[in-house]
Amino acid sequence: MPELAYLNGKIMPIAEAMVPAEDRGYNFGDAVYEYVASYNGKLFCLELHLDRLAHSMREMRFAPLSMETIRHAILDLFEKGQMARAGIYIQISRGVAPRNHAYPPTDTPLQFFMTVRPVHEKPPEVREKGAFAITVVDLRWGRCDIKTVQLVANCMAKQQALEAGVFDAIFVSAQGVVREGTSSNLFIAKNGVLVTHPLNHQILPGITRQVIMDVCRDQGIEVQERFFYREELAAADEAFLTGTITEVLPLVRIDGQPVGDGVVGPLARRLQHGLLERIQ
Ligand SMILES: Cc1ncc(COP(=O)(O)O)c(C=O)c1O
Repeated sequence: MPELAYLNGKIMPIAEAMVPAEDRGYNFGDAVYEYVASYNGKLFCLELHLDRLAHSMREMRFAPLSMETIRHAILDLFEKGQMARAGIYIQISRGVAPRNHAYPPTDTPLQFFMTVRPVHEKPPEVREKGAFAITVVDLRWGRCDIKTVQLVANCMAKQQALEAGVFDAIFVSAQGVVREGTSSNLFIAKNGVLVTHPLNHQILPGITRQVIMDVCRDQGIEVQERFFYREELAAADEAFLTGTITEVLPLVRIDGQPVGDGVVGPLARRLQHGLLERIQ
């Protein structure tokens, strides 16, 4: 099970992958990324991740790089990694150029970097018993729909959660609108109906969010995509996070208060099951 890196067409041990210090991803956070995971030797939702990567690159006005090239490189690295349960990190930056806020010439080659490693699974007891979270003010920029590597606000919030002794933080706008987790989307349930933040510039269009909404459509579970506030979160019967490795992760305590009965709810269980069925 070799942990490997891919850098601009070459595959090597991760420690040997070197990017020049004037990479714009390093200087400006001028890079986009994806994270795709496999189950039983097959990458899950690769095409949806490629579509989102294309969206990020388009919105950042990166020079075009064909999705066929990217798909081929991902599949090649995945094959060489020989891991049934792999996580592939993909990062593409605007390239290497003398530090200048203005974009470099359009013929500056993009830097295309990836790693393949075994997935670091969430602890089974967190899945079984549910997790605790805190809310934090959303300090992120105004284009959270673009998956850029500018994740300092997410790192700060996650660290704040860990130091508070809980699993994760939920971003809430200054006006009280509940957005998402530090690396996951959020759903709440009230009286059997799910609510989640609508797709706009304030959240990441999660692939797992999309799959879960699809499962809900199949199972006749109503999902409302609309803004909801802190008060509605506090009064929810259930809350859960969704994400590639997070899958469907129930939250049973938020800001020290129990969510609903304070135990994992039926919808979270049912949807985690529905997700695993899709994966099979
Ligand atoms: C801020 C944020 N929201 C949501 C997600 C969930 O997205 P996905 O389901 O595609 O993993 C992520 C994943 O990295 C994220 O970073």
